[in-house]
Amino acid sequence: MNVVIQGAGRGIGLALAQKAIASGVSHLFLTARDPATTQGFADLPPGPAITWLALDNLIPDSIERAGEHIRSKIDKLDRVICCSGVLKDEIATPEKRLADIDADRLIYAYQVNAIGPVLLAKALLQTLRGDHPLSFASISARVGSISDNRLGGWYAYRASKAAQNQLMRTLSIEMARYNPNACIATLHPGTVDTALSKPFQAHVPNGGLFTAEDSAAMLWLVLNGLTPTQTGGFFAYDGKPIPY
Ligand SMILES: NC(=O)c1ccc[n+]([C@@H]2O[C@H](COP(=O)([O-])OP(=O)(O)OC[C@H]3O[C@@H](n4cnc5c(N)ncnc54)[C@H](OP(=O)(O)O)[C@@H]3O)[C@@H](O)[C@H]2O)c1
Repeated sequence: MNVVIQGAGRGIGLALAQKAIASGVSHLFLTARDPATTQGFADLPPGPAITWLALDNLIPDSIERAGEHIRSKIDKLDRVICCSGVLKDEIATPEKRLADIDADRLIYAYQVNAIGPVLLAKALLQTLRGDHPLSFASISARVGSISDNRLGGWYAYRASKAAQNQLMRTLSIEMARYNPNACIATLHPGTVDTALSKPFQAHVPNGGLFTAEDSAAMLWLVLNGLTPTQTGGFFAYDGKPIPY
């Protein structure tokens, strides 16, 4: 199995990379913005079956270069998982109210959370086409569901995740023409103990916080079970569909 995990330097992406290796891969392409500085690179160093590539969602050329490298090494991909995401960092600040909205921060969230995954699909298109079984998943978030939005707040994160869902749904419709055995999906990983959720864990109910390893194991199982009839869907870590 040839696998790409975008955003494998830490968090859920790194746990998914470990899961992929445990499941047996022919070739695993892993990305991070600066691979050599990551925990993932230390834990899963480059070797005959593992290639690390630099990829930054803010730099579209870096996505195309990573895709070009992958296309030059293999003819087809069996699984692609996009794990990059940003909720709060030196630029992003989850908004509590309308007055907190900032255009640059909104654009930043869209670039990282929504635009990066679909540009990666574009860069990998040649390896996705055919009739081989393919699962292409982008890790989204339940808060990106428009119909499930009852609490409000987090404008940029919610909207960029909803945009990510729509881009993947649109991709699924086009991809059905290029590969009848493809399943394109967005996945909610649960609330997971990573840097992304750290500032927001105080209100998580007891037992409601997964380790990255537990979440990755469940997501991997969901991906193993997805079929082309489910393409375009949004699924939780337990395989249950989430309404858009
Ligand atoms: N943790 C949760 O509770 C939770 C809940 C719902 C959804 N999610 C989603 O799960 C996914 C993984 O998050 P996580 O919990 O594993 O968070 P994390 O540990 O903070 O990891 C964030 C990932 O995003 C990547 N990233 C950030 N900015 C990037 C950029 N400009 N270009 C490319 N990659 C970039 C990071 O790569 P670098 O190593 O290069 O920094 C890293 O791989 C995200 O999509 C997140 O929205 C998480």
